[in-house]
Amino acid sequence: MKLSFLSIFVGLAVGFALAVPELERRNTGFLISMDTPTIFEQGNSIDLTRRVSTNSTLDFDDIQGDILIGMSKNKETFFFFSIQDATTFKSKLSSDIKALVTSTNQILNTTLQPTTAVNIAFSSSGLAALNVTDDLGDSDFTGGQFADANNLGDPGTSNWVSAFTGTDIHGVFLFASDTAQNIDDQITNVQSILGDSINESYRLDGAARPDDEEGHEHFGYLDGVSQPVVEGVQDPLPGQASVAAGTILVGTDGDGISRPSWAIGGSFLVFRQLQQKVPEFNKYVQDHALNVSGLTSEENADLFGARLVGRWKSGAPIDLSPLRDDPTIGADNTMNNNFTYDHPEISGFDISTNQTFCPFSAHTRKTRPRSDFGTEAANVHHIIRAGIPYGPEVTDDETASNTSSTDSSLERGLAFVAYQSDIADGFKFMQQAWVDNFNFFKASTGVDPIIGRQDGTAADALRNITGTNPLDFDEVVTLDIDFVVSRGGEYFFSPPISALSGALAS
Ligand SMILES: *[C@@H]1O[C@H](CO)[C@@H](O)[C@H](O)[C@H]1NC(C)=O
Ligand SMILES: *[C@@H]1O[C@H](CO)[C@@H](O)[C@H](O)[C@H]1NC(C)=O
Ligand SMILES: *[C@@H]1O[C@H](CO)[C@@H](O)[C@H](O)[C@H]1NC(C)=O
Ligand SMILES: *[C@@H]1O[C@H](CO)[C@@H](O)[C@H](O)[C@H]1NC(C)=O
Ligand SMILES: *[C@@H]1O[C@H](CO)[C@@H](O)[C@H](O)[C@H]1NC(C)=O
Ligand SMILES: *[C@@H]1O[C@H](CO)[C@@H](O)[C@H](O)[C@H]1NC(C)=O
Ligand SMILES: *[C@@H]1O[C@H](CO)[C@@H](O)[C@H](O)[C@H]1NC(C)=O
Ligand SMILES: *[C@@H]1O[C@H](CO)[C@@H](O)[C@H](O)[C@H]1NC(C)=O
Ligand SMILES: *[C@@H]1O[C@H](CO)[C@@H](O)[C@H](O)[C@H]1NC(C)=O
Repeated sequence: MKLSFLSIFVGLAVGFALAVPELERRNTGFLISMDTPTIFEQGNSIDLTRRVSTNSTLDFDDIQGDILIGMSKNKETFFFFSIQDATTFKSKLSSDIKALVTSTNQILNTTLQPTTAVNIAFSSSGLAALNVTDDLGDSDFTGGQFADANNLGDPGTSNWVSAFTGTDIHGVFLFASDTAQNIDDQITNVQSILGDSINESYRLDGAARPDDEEGHEHFGYLDGVSQPVVEGVQDPLPGQASVAAGTILVGTDGDGISRPSWAIGGSFLVFRQLQQKVPEFNKYVQDHALNVSGLTSEENADLFGARLVGRWKSGAPIDLSPLRDDPTIGADNTMNNNFTYDHPEISGFDISTNQTFCPFSAHTRKTRPRSDFGTEAANVHHIIRAGIPYGPEVTDDETASNTSSTDSSLERGLAFVAYQSDIADGFKFMQQAWVDNFNFFKASTGVDPIIGRQDGTAADALRNITGTNPLDFDEVVTLDIDFVVSRGGEYFFSPPISALSGALAS
């Protein structure tokens, strides 16, 4: 349906009232240092002043530090390995590695934080290599991600990093610190402990982007804004989902699946290496600038990009600031999640048809539909994300040619990490039922323009989406390139620390 310019003006005027159009972009990063000088920095999801652990029965000494709080960091390396000598590995896991693994309490209490935080997780084939045959109750984990590639919308696995093709990766170490040198030192230490009992399969070095881009993913948008809190761990901020512990941690309140007792407090870690084609994305956004009157052509391009993502680069949701970025909202964690896509304050606003504020296809709406399906069900389909960008900034040559270099040292993207107690209800549900669903919420919404693909289609297959034009919701925009390319990954289980000298070592 066509919208008159008058109606769009009326609709957007509401947003104008909330927006502060002429503010400079903020110059502090998303990763804000804590009071005590520390290697760890905090984003929206890990404000220690909001900690309410006194209510919690969770064992923060046993739960690995990346799961609930995040080893929020400037640098993080993912070190994938295979187990060559299980007997030696088990012995060293118990005698030396366990003591290096960073707990939630060690992240929460700044005086306990190590120079380099270490976490460890195992694939299903890794548990098998250790002769651990207990059923963890998650068939996606058991099958491994390689077998799941088509279900996730990947156009086959020819773009996958070869180490991920198969089930040969047995585990991953996560090393997080403020410098690459600290991480290298700890990797050397771990390798000297484990010796030939493991073999390195693959390594991916993540790093926060520099300067003002800190906390932003490579397309430039503030990342990690919409995270759930776990009941008893933190109080939710306005608009933040609060989930039962069992949504994230197996065997805890709200997890209905039977699990072996040694696994309680662990979590499934979905890892994906997601390459981002930044110059191509930027060109596409330029070429599809909208025509909203009163905006410059640059603002119209920015608006189009924001309507693909659902947020502005500052993190401000377009649902609260529909015409221009508002860095004040983006930077304020009491405001940047405080929306539902519904607008009860506007008489007659119909969330089921009206995309003036935000397209149904927008990435943030696809990955968390908030009120689209009625009141948001608190305890299902939530994940905690703990990813970090990888790869260098875009080079001048790439910018000038609108094309990502084929030089593998210039590959960039997101080292995606998601925790949940049930992969089928968490990451995989989001990917299949929402992100890759062409008819999400309404017929012909289209797939998520950032990470969505239709099952079985070839790389760069044309994808039609609707809703991007606030002047004509039905206008079809055709995406002709995969801005995000899956380079594969694996499903892991991040066990409770006690298991490292218990079930996994015996
Ligand atoms: C969408 O909502 C806005 C704001 O209330 C209104 O101006 C506009 O007319 C609505 N559009 C449609 C198609 O209903
Ligand atoms: C694993 O089980 C096999 C078969 O029972 C046995 O031969 C092997 O020694 C076990 N390995 C370890 C490390 O326990
Ligand atoms: C942090 O750890 C130190 C050293 O173990 C301890 O003395 C202190 O009480 C802990 N602080 C909190 C808030 O738990
Ligand atoms: C160790 O891994 C490398 C790839 O990272 C591989 O080429 C090599 O064959 C592996 N060695 C063993 C003993 O499996
Ligand atoms: C903590 O427990 C008290 C008493 O049961 C309850 O009133 C309060 O709401 C709880 N707080 C949180 C954040 O769960
Ligand atoms: C904006 O207007 C120009 C010129 O009229 C047109 O070529 C372009 O397709 C329009 N873009 C959109 C998104 O409607
Ligand atoms: C959150 O949104 C509600 C409803 O729009 C509003 O009343 C409240 O003031 C907002 N809170 C903040 C901190 O902006
Ligand atoms: C890059 O894309 C922009 C936007 O479409 C265009 O103006 C420019 O000419 C392109 N540069 C090259 C080298 O193709
Ligand atoms: C995309 O939409 C256009 C009409 O705008 C249609 O001709 C084309 O067949 C559609 N393509 C796909 C892949 O759905």
